[in-house]
Amino acid sequence: MTAHVDGHALRRARAERRAVIGFNIYNLEQGIGVVRAAERERVPVLLQAGSSAFRYAGRAPLARLALALAAETSAPVGVHLDHATDVDEIRACLDLGYGSVMYDGSALALDDNIATTRAVVAAAHARGAWVEGELAGIAGDEDESTGAGAGALTEPAAAARFVAETGVDALAVAIGNVHGIPAAPVALDLGRLARIADAVDVPLVLHGASGLPEDEVRAAIGLGVAKLNVNTELRRALRASLLATAAAPPPGDAVEGWLGPVVEATCAAATAKLRAFAHAPAEVAP
Ligand code: 13P
Repeated sequence: MTAHVDGHALRRARAERRAVIGFNIYNLEQGIGVVRAAERERVPVLLQAGSSAFRYAGRAPLARLALALAAETSAPVGVHLDHATDVDEIRACLDLGYGSVMYDGSALALDDNIATTRAVVAAAHARGAWVEGELAGIAGDEDESTGAGAGALTEPAAAARFVAETGVDALAVAIGNVHGIPAAPVALDLGRLARIADAVDVPLVLHGASGLPEDEVRAAIGLGVAKLNVNTELRRALRASLLATAAAPPPGDAVEGWLGPVVEATCAAATAKLRAFAHAPAEVAP
């Protein structure tokens, strides 16, 4: 199992008012790009190879690719299962060596979400892995930016009960955040975030971090968010890179000529996010 980003990494990040960023990847080029960014910035990073990307690339091939990238780098890179709704899939990824998993029971009634999340926590902790849980539900498509508006929001009292009864290590909150980049800017409910942070003692996770104004994300980190999830910005970097390469094609048909720029574009996008949010404020040059 990769131990680079263990269960304490998020607590340390919360205490230092910085975030560990989980980047969703679908293929080799994105994986290499994210790892290069982590090597450049020397901060903990999570490669999120999860359920929806498995549908594209196959579970074992993508999972093993992410695990191999994490094992081969000297940078602190962990492998995390994002948004799993299937407990068998969680067990399979823990067997493969994932260091952390997210069980997303947000579509269930609270009691059912608590019961299944608690079972996932027991299975994961037995293997030294940590668990992220979710309440309420983050709107929007995980693989494509659809412009969805926010759905139900996390209630602080429910969050307190959920964390106490499940033993999760981190909690994903719904405070107006959505997957994807909507046309109308997202306004995070920071007051609600502060109440949730008062009610629970675990690090909080902000999904849908693509396209959010920097000052809002920084305020959320100041209030207890210690993990950000980024997917759309990497997909957009990939798309822009492919369009640019097609518009000014390299000579010949070498794969590196066509897909090397995707690695560079992913690395640049990931590096920008890490520079903005993954260092403690004191580390950032004025
Ligand atoms: P974005 O696509 O908005 O970056 O959201 C990513 C995410 O939350 C993955 O779980």
